[in-house]
Parts: sequence; structure tokens; C-alpha cells
Amino acid sequence: MFKYVSDVSILAHNIINEYVENKNVAVDATLGNGYDCDFLSSCFKKVYAFEIQKEACEKYIDKNNNVIIINESHHKIDEFVNEEINCICYNLGYLPGGNKEITTLAETSLKSIQLSLNLLSSNGIMAIAIYRGHNEGKEEESCILQYLRNLPKNKFGVMLHECINRSDKSPLLVIVEKK
Ligand SMILES: C[S@@+](CC[C@H](N)C(=O)[O-])C[C@H]1O[C@@H](n2cnc3c(N)ncnc32)[C@H](O)[C@@H]1O
Repeated sequence: MFKYVSDVSILAHNIINEYVENKNVAVDATLGNGYDCDFLSSCFKKVYAFEIQKEACEKYIDKNNNVIIINESHHKIDEFVNEEINCICYNLGYLPGGNKEITTLAETSLKSIQLSLNLLSSNGIMAIAIYRGHNEGKEEESCILQYLRNLPKNKFGVMLHECINRSDKSPLLVIVEKK
């Protein structure tokens, strides 16, 4: 087993835990089974969690009392979050073990990322796990990376984690830090 080169979600959690100093408000942009949300809830004072599948929202709703569940698409984030956020996690794609037809989409993922960068605090971190083993994931990879590569370098630091000795379908983790 590898310790660092592991699951991209775990890597994201470790980076967030270590580098986000101000742990007030976090957003889980894709609640799913709630693993990322549990992590965020354990270290941030308040967490907003978005999810389009009603059943996933209902399953989580009473689990942690510092989590606000929003049964809506994350591209509407600015309608629900009216404060600065210190961290936002995207775990894109479809729910493991769920309906593969219900997946995040390049267009709405990108719109959400653009809006969230405005909400992010100074030294706040955005973590994006991209699963490029399916068609929509490939589309997300190309359109999200193209957008992030062109962010102004005096305002944002963008780092890509990619396993270069594995399949070109292996998951990617992108970390964006706002100056
Ligand atoms: C890879 S799963 C997330 C895994 C989750 N973070 C966890 O810890 O279990 C992706 C989730 O995003 C949800 N989703 C798809 N499109 C969405 C959207 N536009 N807004 C919010 N959630 C969305 C899917 O229903 C699915 O549950």
C-alpha cells in the first residue's frame, strides 16, 4: 500500500486539514454518500452540502448538526451561500454503487467552480477530484483544466496531482489556493 499516492479524496482531506488555517465555513459540492461531508463536518464550524439526489440528502440530513443540506445543483451556489467560504470540495462523477446516469456535468461543474472561486476566502482551498474513466468525466477534465490553467497566477495557485505511471483514466486531484 502507498501512503501518499492513495485515494484522491483522502489526499484532498489531508491537504485541507494541513493547509486551511481558518476552519469556519466549508462547502461539499457533491454530498453523495457523505464521506467528504463527514470529514468537513469534523473540522469546520459550518458546512453547506449540495446534492441533486433527494435520497442521498434524506439519508444524511440528521447526521451532523453543523451541516446544511441543500437538495439543489451546485451551480446555484450563489443562491444559497451568502458568506465567505474557507474550503470547497468537488468529488465529481457519479455515486459509487448508484445510478451512473446521474453524474456531474462539465457545464454545471465549471459554472459552480467559477462562482465558488469568488466566494473563497484568502488562503482558502478548493479541491476537485475528477474521474476521467467515463465520457462526461473526460469532458470535465478538459474543460475544467483549461479554465484553471488560465486563472491569473497573481491571484490563484493551481496544482494538479496525476499518477503518471498508471492508466490515463486514473483520477486527478486539482488543488486551487486563493492568494
Ligand atoms: C462521486 S459522487 C460524490 C461522493 C461523495 N462526495 C462522498 O463522499 O460519498 C458525486 C455526487 O454528485 C452528485 N451530483 C451530480 N450532479 C450534481 C450537481 N449538479 N450538484 C450537486 N451534486 C451533484 C451525484 O448525485 C453524486 O451523488
